[in-house]
Amino acid sequence: MLKCTINGKEVQVKAGATIIEAYMEAKENIAHYCWHPGLSIAGVCRMCMVEIEGNPRLQIACNTKVAEGMKINNTSAKVKESVEWTLGFHLINHPLDCPICDQAGECGLQEYYMSYGKYNPGMAEQKVKKNKVVDLGSKIVLDSERCILCDRCVRFTSEVSKTNEFGIFNRGDHAEIGTVDGMPVENNYALNVVDICPVGALTSKDFRFKQRVWYLKEFETVCNGCSTGCNIKVHFNENGLYRVKPVHNEAVNGYWMCDQGRDLYKFANKEFRQIKATKNENGHVVTLSAGAAAKEVGAMLNKSSGLALVLTGQYTSEEYNSILSYAKNLSAEIYYWKNNPESWDEFDGILYRGDHNPNTKGLELELSSAGIKAKDLKDLYSAIESGKVKTVVVAAPEVQKNYENLEEVFNKLNKADQLIWLTSGRNDLFEKANYVIPMKSFTEKKGTFVNHKGIEQKISKGVTIVSESLSLSEIVELFKGNDLVGFNIPTYERPQLLGGV
Ligand code: SF4
Ligand code: SF4
Ligand code: FES
Repeated sequence: MLKCTINGKEVQVKAGATIIEAYMEAKENIAHYCWHPGLSIAGVCRMCMVEIEGNPRLQIACNTKVAEGMKINNTSAKVKESVEWTLGFHLINHPLDCPICDQAGECGLQEYYMSYGKYNPGMAEQKVKKNKVVDLGSKIVLDSERCILCDRCVRFTSEVSKTNEFGIFNRGDHAEIGTVDGMPVENNYALNVVDICPVGALTSKDFRFKQRVWYLKEFETVCNGCSTGCNIKVHFNENGLYRVKPVHNEAVNGYWMCDQGRDLYKFANKEFRQIKATKNENGHVVTLSAGAAAKEVGAMLNKSSGLALVLTGQYTSEEYNSILSYAKNLSAEIYYWKNNPESWDEFDGILYRGDHNPNTKGLELELSSAGIKAKDLKDLYSAIESGKVKTVVVAAPEVQKNYENLEEVFNKLNKADQLIWLTSGRNDLFEKANYVIPMKSFTEKKGTFVNHKGIEQKISKGVTIVSESLSLSEIVELFKGNDLVGFNIPTYERPQLLGGV
């Protein structure tokens, strides 16, 4: 470890650390555009200037290593004047787009202008015009005039996605960001470049002009798109969820997430959701409240024999825990609905995994600690045909698009005398079930997902979109005939590993 002083604060950093890392350690502000902790050092924006005692020239913090006893500051008039001039140069050709720019409110240029702006720039020259609204495929729009040539997107596509679409072309004030031969940027990590672009040069087609960022709130949780369990923050307001961004977790997802996962917030929004419970009486569908439907179903289950429960890896460990003990009391058979298990070991080498369930490990742990060996769905089809199973309760997948055989499975299970379908997502098909009960999405409940490495992560309740929706634990209470007033989600204690999981 090395000791140094940052703006008068003494900090210790690892040998080999750069000055900008020491600033992060000291939690002191330092202007920077091109440096990103998840990428290599480019040293091109010249915003991170610092003064080192005994050194007559200012240095850039991102590419200068800390030496023992260094005394560094970025608060002197000399540093401030230098950053002010650098920012002035970044702005020479930047268009006056802020009122119509989607990055407004979270733009690095706006932020630093407020702290270092050269309020009297004295530039009379015409701005160099560059390309605007360049279509980079289905996900991204580029505005090259706004680009400050920080090179982050180039390094991301060369070092992380390794797809190499971006490059800086031409020289001098005609230097311009673009893609090789104008190729679209369609890789599964493309939207990370929108996150790391410090200005409004790269914007997401999905989010563009939907909301001003200052009208959004955010909460942190875990993606439910695959067994990696990337840490994310979800941006929302009273109209629903608008976008998802990654949250740094070195052990799980580093600084990034995939575009497949970024899209899944849509399924938690109202237009895709089961809003009320439905009951199908000989082809006549009526709606009822979720609570009333759950109580009716519970009364029926308590009397029925030949009961089967179908589980998917899409719920929290706490929910499995409650429903498994309930099912055990009713002597229900447990079946495990796996989507494409033959591709579960696939991995794209970055983050995305072939197992598109967030809590396969959690389900397997709960089954094994309850001493239950779940059966295959195929066995359930034959048990329904033979009349051995009469009533089937299904904790259906939340992300329906990841269950390609959904319709086929539904139709086979609907041959049972009674099918109770618990689902957060709406689908006209489901109305054929005897009961459909609206479930909470992963953004509406607390709980635990255990990722493919066995790392236990908490998901958090951010916002309620469907007021009547229930968690599996709440359903169990209602099935038992209890009320939900004062009901708390049970706390989760990780069961002992019983081998094989
Ligand atoms: S487009 Fe954005 S990330 Fe790429 S070089 Fe320009 S400013 Fe940097
Ligand atoms: S890799 Fe998996 S967990 Fe991560 S964002 Fe993509 S789908 Fe979500
Ligand atoms: S952050 Fe140091 S030169 Fe850009």
